[in-house]
Amino acid sequence: MAAALQTNIRPVKFPATFTKQSSTAPFRVRCAAASPGKKRYNITLLPGDGIGPEVISIAKNVLQQAGSLEGLEFSFQEMPVGGAALDLVGVPLPEETVSAAKESDAVLLGAIGGYKWDKNEKHMKPETGLLQLRAALKVFANLRPATVLPQLVDASTLKREVAEGVDLMVVRELTGGIYFGVPRGIKTNENGEEVGFNTEVYAAHEIDRIARVAFETARKRRGKLCSVDKANVLDASILWRRRVTALAAEYPDVELSHMYVDNAAMQLVRDPKQFDTIVTNNIFGDILSDEASMITGSIGMLPSASLSDSGPGLFEPIHGSAPDIAGQDKANPLATILSAAMLLKYGLGEEKAAKRIEDAVLGALNKGFRTGDIYSAGTKLVGCKEMGEEVLKSVDSHVQASV
Ligand code: IPM
Ligand code: MG
Repeated sequence: MAAALQTNIRPVKFPATFTKQSSTAPFRVRCAAASPGKKRYNITLLPGDGIGPEVISIAKNVLQQAGSLEGLEFSFQEMPVGGAALDLVGVPLPEETVSAAKESDAVLLGAIGGYKWDKNEKHMKPETGLLQLRAALKVFANLRPATVLPQLVDASTLKREVAEGVDLMVVRELTGGIYFGVPRGIKTNENGEEVGFNTEVYAAHEIDRIARVAFETARKRRGKLCSVDKANVLDASILWRRRVTALAAEYPDVELSHMYVDNAAMQLVRDPKQFDTIVTNNIFGDILSDEASMITGSIGMLPSASLSDSGPGLFEPIHGSAPDIAGQDKANPLATILSAAMLLKYGLGEEKAAKRIEDAVLGALNKGFRTGDIYSAGTKLVGCKEMGEEVLKSVDSHVQASV
């Protein structure tokens, strides 16, 4: 099991270069004073673009509140990434952001991207910053849960009987495959025609390490793992299937199955309850996790955790920057709040504080509060801030209820 999936507490020291630059650079650096007897963690916040800053500021408050009830103290450092970084310093991932992230205990990201930078060349796109960040942190294991909450079952576009009770986890390989494979590029061939090409490539060790995370994840859930590939066509998938099958011997308690990706896409909407844990490559995971999110009613609900072997994890909602509603107090902050819960659970091993956040989200939903994306008749429509306040109140009321 990757170390970062268990408790991973490291002493944190900011590198001299960063500390020096932070006094002059236009980044905000905030540090909480240490209190005796409290466990301290350094968290890098990357608000990013669009609705990112709105949802991050709310998740930060919830994290702080839930943590303090468990004797945890956080020191937050906000750094630029994506379009915000392009505007500020001309690159989508400044070195200062990378070193701050690497030196912290965990990283919480909002969202990146927006119309403004859509026409930029590839190396100047906000998305490139995100891919560089994943590579720099070596976060190869991306956990994307999709759970249909009983409170939101009617928000799903699927029939109630199909959606009700869905609880699955997509384990997506995040730092390999066609996203990073070489050769890649756009060239002119011998006929003078432009040709675009990418390479789907997986080394055995890359398959093995993500498969292990997936087997371990399935073991802690309902013990079923479905490996999704395209082994009827792609060589990289043939090796993928071979390696995953070989590893299954080490996990006799996990029931392994294999499925081609086209069938998996169909089965996800036909009968999603057949899935427990899905493991798949980078690009199939990108596509299937968006599809899985829709079963739950709104992509605005779903968190994610990206983990490495050691070192800080990266936690982010799976929704994008939603530039159409940015700055209008309409965003659903729950996916980011739940990402903060994943940060506590998978990044810091602080399960109790994580549970407080999960319960608080359910509490706010139980009281009927809904942002626009999950609104249905008879519930109370609220904006991003109010939803955040309700979750905060709910963190507090759970404390009152338990004393
Ligand atoms: C995701 C996103 C990213 C990806 C983009 C923004 C680069 O779609 O996290 O799923 O393709 O991985
Ligand atoms: Mg995606």
